[in-house]
Amino acid sequence: MRLNGKTALITGASRGIGRATALVLAEHGADVALFDVRPEVEQTAQAVSGLGRRSYWQRVDVADADQVRAGVAAVERDLGAVDILVNNAGLVKNIAPLADMSAEAWQNELGVNLTGPFNMVQAVIKGMAERGWGRIVNISSAAARGGLYKQVGYASTKAGLLGLTQNVALEYGAHGVTCNAILPGLIGTENVRAMPKEILDQGVSLIPTGRVGEPEEVGHLIAFLCSDVAGYINGVDILIDGGAALNSVVLGSRRALRERTSGAPGRRGG
Ligand SMILES: NC(=O)c1ccc[n+]([C@@H]2O[C@H](COP(=O)([O-])OP(=O)(O)OC[C@H]3O[C@@H](n4cnc5c(N)ncnc54)[C@H](O)[C@@H]3O)[C@@H](O)[C@H]2O)c1
Repeated sequence: MRLNGKTALITGASRGIGRATALVLAEHGADVALFDVRPEVEQTAQAVSGLGRRSYWQRVDVADADQVRAGVAAVERDLGAVDILVNNAGLVKNIAPLADMSAEAWQNELGVNLTGPFNMVQAVIKGMAERGWGRIVNISSAAARGGLYKQVGYASTKAGLLGLTQNVALEYGAHGVTCNAILPGLIGTENVRAMPKEILDQGVSLIPTGRVGEPEEVGHLIAFLCSDVAGYINGVDILIDGGAALNSVVLGSRRALRERTSGAPGRRGG
């Protein structure tokens, strides 16, 4: 995958999938700009420079449209026009039953996980369309399909991101811009590896490949979608979960089967 001569902009790039993606895109030849609220994003920029590519970093809160506009203008002054946008910044503010979720946590997740990507797309899309080439990859989640127990805000925003992805694909495909979403399952980022061992082991036990994914594996998929050879892939969402979704379906079907055969509530027919 050759990304030479392209400028990529990645949000949430201080660690995890964002940092790994920055390094993979740089290995493929892209210059890389990095936004994050955490100052550690500077270290990702240094690592990109260490690979011989140009880099730029800035502390930008993606939920703030003014910061995003100013940040993108600064990237364009420093590195040139943005060819590739990876909307990766995301957070979980609430793990609790829906009834107990505060309006503040809901707004926070909505702001970062959904309004953030919207702000970013708005700041770069006109330029991409005028130049007739662009790649946008939105990092959603496997939670966009089927929800996530006690994480209604996160799951809703990640499902909403699929709507944004599809609309960008519809509106800008004719201008040489593709927009796709990636749905990671359990990926071994710092956050995930810090989970209590029994919860992590339980998650891994449902993954057919028997392990968590590596952040770089998500980065390689992103690099492919951002390359010239992927120009006909537009408006889709791609799972990268080691096959975990297969087990969710099996578990779901087993539960449904149990209920049907036991005559539990929800049974249909006579
Ligand atoms: N790790 C997984 O298993 C997994 C699974 C599914 C989806 N995802 C998604 O992948 C993306 C990256 O996940 P990760 O595990 O690397 O997360 P992470 O928490 O390690 O990294 C997210 C980054 O986003 C930054 N960020 C948070 N709020 C921001 C804001 N308002 N503006 C700019 N930057 C902000 C954080 O500082 C952090 O550097 C997220 O969107 C996440 O929802 C991750």
